Amino acid sequence: MLELKDFCFTIEKDGEPHNLIDRVNLKIPAGHFMAIVGPSGCGKTTLLNTIAGLNEMSEGYIFWKGRDLEEDGDLEPAELGYVPQFSIAFEELTVDESIEAVTKLRVKTNDLGELDQRIDRVLEETGLTDIADRQVKVLSGGQKRRLGLAMELVTDPTLLLCDEVTSGLDPRSERDIVRRLHDISRRDGRIVISVTHSLAHLELYDSILVLHEGRVAFHGPPDELTHYFSVDDTEEIYPRLGKQESTKWNKSWEKHADSYYQKIEDTRVELIKSGKLNAPLAHGLTSKSSEDLEIEKNINLDATTELDAEEEVTLSKRQKRRKKAESSKLDDEFDVAKTDFIQEVSIAVQTPGIFSQFSTLLARRWKIFFRDRGQVYLQLAIMICFPLIVILFADQGNETLRKFSDAGTDYSIDGIKELNEIAKNRLNVGGAVSGIIMFQMVLLALMGSNNAAREIAGERKIMEKEKFGGVSPVAYLLSKVTFLIAIILVQSLVMGIAVQATWTFKGAEASSYIDHFTFLILINASMSFICLGISAMMKTAEKASMLSIYLVGFQLPLSGAMLALPDLVGQITRPFISAYWAWSGSLQNLQSGYYDAVKDVTKTPIDLGSNLSSFILIAQIVIGLVITFIGIKRHQWEH
Ligand SMILES: Nc1ncnc2c1ncn2[C@@H]1O[C@H](COP(=O)(O)OP(=O)(O)OP(=O)(O)O)[C@@H](O)[C@H]1O
Ligand SMILES: [Mg+2]
Repeated sequence: MLELKDFCFTIEKDGEPHNLIDRVNLKIPAGHFMAIVGPSGCGKTTLLNTIAGLNEMSEGYIFWKGRDLEEDGDLEPAELGYVPQFSIAFEELTVDESIEAVTKLRVKTNDLGELDQRIDRVLEETGLTDIADRQVKVLSGGQKRRLGLAMELVTDPTLLLCDEVTSGLDPRSERDIVRRLHDISRRDGRIVISVTHSLAHLELYDSILVLHEGRVAFHGPPDELTHYFSVDDTEEIYPRLGKQESTKWNKSWEKHADSYYQKIEDTRVELIKSGKLNAPLAHGLTSKSSEDLEIEKNINLDATTELDAEEEVTLSKRQKRRKKAESSKLDDEFDVAKTDFIQEVSIAVQTPGIFSQFSTLLARRWKIFFRDRGQVYLQLAIMICFPLIVILFADQGNETLRKFSDAGTDYSIDGIKELNEIAKNRLNVGGAVSGIIMFQMVLLALMGSNNAAREIAGERKIMEKEKFGGVSPVAYLLSKVTFLIAIILVQSLVMGIAVQATWTFKGAEASSYIDHFTFLILINASMSFICLGISAMMKTAEKASMLSIYLVGFQLPLSGAMLALPDLVGQITRPFISAYWAWSGSLQNLQSGYYDAVKDVTKTPIDLGSNLSSFILIAQIVIGLVITFIGIKRHQWEH
């Protein structure tokens, strides 16, 4: 049984506390299908979110199978299913793949056969078997809602909460979903609570909760509704609600509550006996909760203690024995209630470990990547075109560079003449080398921001939903990092190899090529992970993209590679400019001739040491990762 006692959710409004949910008292037995209805803004979603634990209850108690959820901890992720109004599946995946991924993320099992069975059963239950291989993006509204439902059923939740899963659907699809929810509540003592605007199909529910201004205006069997509100048709309930204050409605409901609950319980027992409802008789509205039993036990123990102290002399041995027996019987009852609960918890599915979740998330990420043709082509275009642009520019500098590198060996008149000419062109050489290296760095920074800006913000709702379902933020972080590292390595190596192969640049030893590659990777990684952090912190993918693009846009002017910055500005901004560190770090590994040429053309300090450059880029990566982790962990649920 789910029980709410004086349940409140309070917010601050104009400095005053304001109860969005005001002293709700409710009892819902095991094996029950309840609707929450009420006018827009009356607090239906807020109530559902507070029951789910997405909003923190401000006052009151919530008991689940006799367990005080405030004291004994929230429901296990697998015990609770929450179907939000929005779609929680990736458009690129098929119905089957979506359900498979969520099952692997939420259900621990080594037996693939069992996993398949579970998926098939859920597909069957939600009527999705025939369209299992269809992509989510082509599903109709009703099919998407059923998919949302299916994705919650994979853990066999005993409490299923649904928010407006029928809104915007045609009457037939609406009835279909309500019917399915009804059927789901008939099995395994499940409680299904469905928030709805619609006053159609109310006869399919076991009870209806009418909420008005955050208060219970009515909770009882559907056939009592019209009589209670003195209306002929349920459609007239909303206009009728507004005619009286919510506190008055609440008072009049409280007068009837016991008789309504008795009726609900009687119907329930009948259904169980006739085999139409599979639920334990014991978890009905009239059975004692373990909390009640505990209170009773304490009262009794107190009585016994007092008895021992004061009345021992006056009681006969037989009377004492009876008191003791009563107390131990309560003890037993209490223990039975606890054992029941423990057994149920151990039957519930377990959440898989971090590594298993990580590999599921990573495999899903790659699948989505390759399915999204647009994304693949964009990546390929960037990976090919960006190095090409650099090559084109590099080619212009090739002639000067060739002469420069040949110089110094020919001391003939012609050679010396040429040397003089080269010396004059020294500035050009410095400019070409510095420019080409900076160009590479800025383009890799741009790739980094393109890799990561939407990565988390673009799937925030899905991630929040999955986190709520038990997916570890560490598994998320690891999957994103691994996916990005693979992309970063490919991009940086393609850029590095393509440019080195075509550029007549013989200014470095083989070992310093490796250093140069290292800086290409570091700048890409630094920008990718900082933008991943931005993506994890921002509410929308648009905001994250915008901020990331600005960040890249500032790299070139603030790096000092083109124009030296005023000293103070340079000192302040430099630590944040990844391109500066990658550029200066890379320059320091050049052969001294080239390095000196670059030094001549730039007033920006480039001799801070390549170790410092790598250190700062690595520090930026670490900071990006920390911000990402904080952002992933942060609760950003919005309904
Ligand atoms: N965290 C919050 N802070 C401030 N106000 C809130 C918060 N959550 C909800 N509200 C307000 O509480 C009221 C109830 O919101 P809720 O979303 O629960 O309504 P609802 O009954 O689900 O409405 P609808 O049928 O339109 O979905 C609204 O006025 C809403 O603006
Ligand atoms: Mg709502």
